[in-house]
Amino acid sequence: MKNIVLIGFMGVGKGSVAREIVKQSDLVALDTDDIIESMENRRIKKIFAEEGEEYFRVLERKVAQWLQKEVRGTLISTGGGFFKVPNLSKIGTVVYLSAPFETIHNRILAHPDAEKKLRKRPLFQDIDKAIKLYDERSALYKKAADIIIDVSNKEISDIAKEILKKVK
Ligand code: S3P
Repeated sequence: MKNIVLIGFMGVGKGSVAREIVKQSDLVALDTDDIIESMENRRIKKIFAEEGEEYFRVLERKVAQWLQKEVRGTLISTGGGFFKVPNLSKIGTVVYLSAPFETIHNRILAHPDAEKKLRKRPLFQDIDKAIKLYDERSALYKKAADIIIDVSNKEISDIAKEILKKVK
């Protein structure tokens, strides 16, 4: 089976959806940010602060190459900028989780650990810059996707069901 690759903006719920898909199926999940953090033994925030964004993007491309070569039949959640790696579609079926910026922002703010959720994301420090990034990326996410799932106003369990049904 092909991998399933979840893409979408920071905070849209790629991780939560991945965990729900795992619950509903026999799939095992990987997360590209988690892989990078364990490769580096430091948090994304620290990698950005100490090395800069481009260093992080190089690591994403390295992870992408490995996924393409070595990983099969796996659910892969990704960081919000991972979709820009070369040959994304060769990793697996690309599923874009889509929602308006406001929905995403409210979702983060509604989280009991909202402050931490925001703090750990270097590109979500300034709301105007985050909106700009969202606007720049929206069309690109769509272009990169095989399947687009509108996740606004849907239960996580229904989103997971919808994805599993569509990738079959
Ligand atoms: C990023 C998103 C983050 C993380 C890094 C860069 C981005 O992942 O990979 O901070 O460029 O959108 P999440 O989408 O899980 O927040």
